[in-house]
Amino acid sequence: MRSTIICCLSSSLMQISKLWIKPLQFLAIVALGLLAIVFISAPAPTQPPVTLKLLMTAPDVPPWTKFMVKQFEAEHPNIRLQIVEGPNQVNLLEDMYTTAFLLGDSPYDLVNMDVIWISKFAAAGWLMDLTDEVTEAELAAFSPADVEGSKYAGRLYRLPVRSDAGMLYYRKDLLDAAGFDPPQTFEDIERISQALQAQKAVRWGYLWQGKQYEGAAAMFVEVLKGFGGFWVNPDTLEVGLDRPEALQAVEFLKGTIAQGISPPGVTTYVEEDTRRIFQNGEAAFMRNWPYAWPLMNAENSPVRGKIEIMPMVRSQSGQASGSCLGGWGLGIAKTSKHQQEALEAIRFITSPAIQKQFILEAGYVPSRRELFTNADVVARYDHYPELLKVVDTAVLRPPIAQYAQASDILQRYLSAALTNQQSPEAAMQGAAGETRRLLEAGRAKRA
Ligand code: GLC
Repeated sequence: MRSTIICCLSSSLMQISKLWIKPLQFLAIVALGLLAIVFISAPAPTQPPVTLKLLMTAPDVPPWTKFMVKQFEAEHPNIRLQIVEGPNQVNLLEDMYTTAFLLGDSPYDLVNMDVIWISKFAAAGWLMDLTDEVTEAELAAFSPADVEGSKYAGRLYRLPVRSDAGMLYYRKDLLDAAGFDPPQTFEDIERISQALQAQKAVRWGYLWQGKQYEGAAAMFVEVLKGFGGFWVNPDTLEVGLDRPEALQAVEFLKGTIAQGISPPGVTTYVEEDTRRIFQNGEAAFMRNWPYAWPLMNAENSPVRGKIEIMPMVRSQSGQASGSCLGGWGLGIAKTSKHQQEALEAIRFITSPAIQKQFILEAGYVPSRRELFTNADVVARYDHYPELLKVVDTAVLRPPIAQYAQASDILQRYLSAALTNQQSPEAAMQGAAGETRRLLEAGRAKRA
């Protein structure tokens, strides 16, 4: 290229010189020509890196920024990962994604999704179909429940990044000192709480998430299951919220407040409120997700080494305990202009080595099954093999496309019952009726 340019240039210079132009003009033309050679033969300017944006709840951010983002960017100099810190409540996060999608071009390339969002986001056509990007063998390394929760109508829209399951935390030191075995039932929680409160060993017995938000729905399915009830059967769309078991579940929760086992403020608590009080040493029991474990065992934690974690209990009359299945994964926005780069990021984040580091760092429930029994992971978290059983028997919140509305209905009526604005009977009848109308409308629309 350079020789052709020089050749053309010299022939044009000769022709120009024949025209007897002034020497100064001649020199200027030569200089311009040389400049052109420099520009044309210089390497093309490098492309600026592509920035992938994703949104997550504030407490989720630290393990990502601590190593994952740095490592990814070091290995992919052409891609930046920009984490946008959202609110703590997952339903507010869902609202932010939903608004972005409804407005058209989503500013987010990667979609960090709770297991309960997939049906809605996929049905609305907001997500890229990932089915052909991942082989069955690759998927087989993840927990079946996490993979199932990543699908809609048989197609894959998310790759699991971490699983989750509601657990019961308790103060082993206090139970041991008072001669109590770990609780088996809700009634045990009440009995042991009252005894420890009477001894002034703790101020509160049991902490749970009672604010009107998604966390309360997750907490409630566990109590509901413990009493042998159900919310919505996803196959038949039958609604169980006004059955006696559901009423018993509400009565149990109300009873903990009425008896002073749970603080009156529990009806405004989200996960982090309960964790702070429990970590401060003020309560005997707490329902929470496993993310709280490493925080409560951190060096400066007053309850470090004094706590245990176990599957959620059942009622005396219920058959099995029922941890709620949660969990997060990554999908790609259909409108993203950087789908290939987003796919590269997902492959990196869900790879075995990065997942192991992520789980070790954050104490999350793994999605890759090998990690539950991996020697390094178990050396740090010896409850993980037990956690695998919990995840495998966890209760799903109903995987239906109208889940967000169904959950909103439950949250409103449950909160009305817990805060004494409605009797448990009236509230649960209201919740059941509204849920049935929602599902009927959905059925009519599909017909
Ligand atoms: C956790 C769970 C998620 C659930 C949320 C409720 O983040 O992983 O599935 O919806 O808590 O607050």
